[in-house]
Amino acid sequence: MKTLILSDVHANWWALRAVLDFLEREKIGYDRVVSLGDYVDYGTRPNEVIEWFRERCDICLLGNHDAALVNHEERNYFSDLAYTCSVWTEKVIKPENLNFIRHLRPLAREGDILYVHAAPDDPIWKYIFDPSDATISFRSTDARLIFVGHTHVPSYFARYRTVVVGGQVVSDRMKMKFLPSVRYIVNPGSVGQPRDGLGGASFGIYDDEEPSFTWYRVNYDLSNLKKEIGEAGLPMSLLSYYL
Ligand SMILES: [Fe+2]
Repeated sequence: MKTLILSDVHANWWALRAVLDFLEREKIGYDRVVSLGDYVDYGTRPNEVIEWFRERCDICLLGNHDAALVNHEERNYFSDLAYTCSVWTEKVIKPENLNFIRHLRPLAREGDILYVHAAPDDPIWKYIFDPSDATISFRSTDARLIFVGHTHVPSYFARYRTVVVGGQVVSDRMKMKFLPSVRYIVNPGSVGQPRDGLGGASFGIYDDEEPSFTWYRVNYDLSNLKKEIGEAGLPMSLLSYYL
């Protein structure tokens, strides 16, 4: 079975469309969809994004930006930019979409697989950027395979014996076949807002038969996104994430 794993779409409808068009064009099939959260903020189309996930998602997690919409105390941890976007999103989000977010949880377990927005040891806020962050996270769960989002950096960490290695995925397509004696943390990267300086929409597909995970990065036309950010009156500094 193949699972399309998407994370951190951040109301960027154009990036999500580009991912779906790419999969169709390349004839890359999938049986189900898992979202690691952060549907809202930064982009202009939170309703379209949430409505797509409401219809298509098999496992939908809660991200820190989603949590901040239903619990304003979470905004205390935000940058000024994130805070401004959260206030803007609250004005445009439809009640039924807010209600959908209200019922989400930040983690889900399926056998020896854990899906979580940020990290097993802090499902909403911890960033796993390097092997020392990953070491603590591996210790906090017995899951063999852990899917995380939140950093907006496509990456992996692998633990075998007492060693933890890993880092960024710097490619537009990379497959990693999993070894049975190794535990993995896999981050598909962000669909809607890249933070690795390489641009595009990042995501991946987990194949539980091989077993493997393949990262993809898709470039797309940014003109609609840029135009809408301007029209919405959102901070133009948002554009610095996009190349
Ligand atoms: Fe995010």
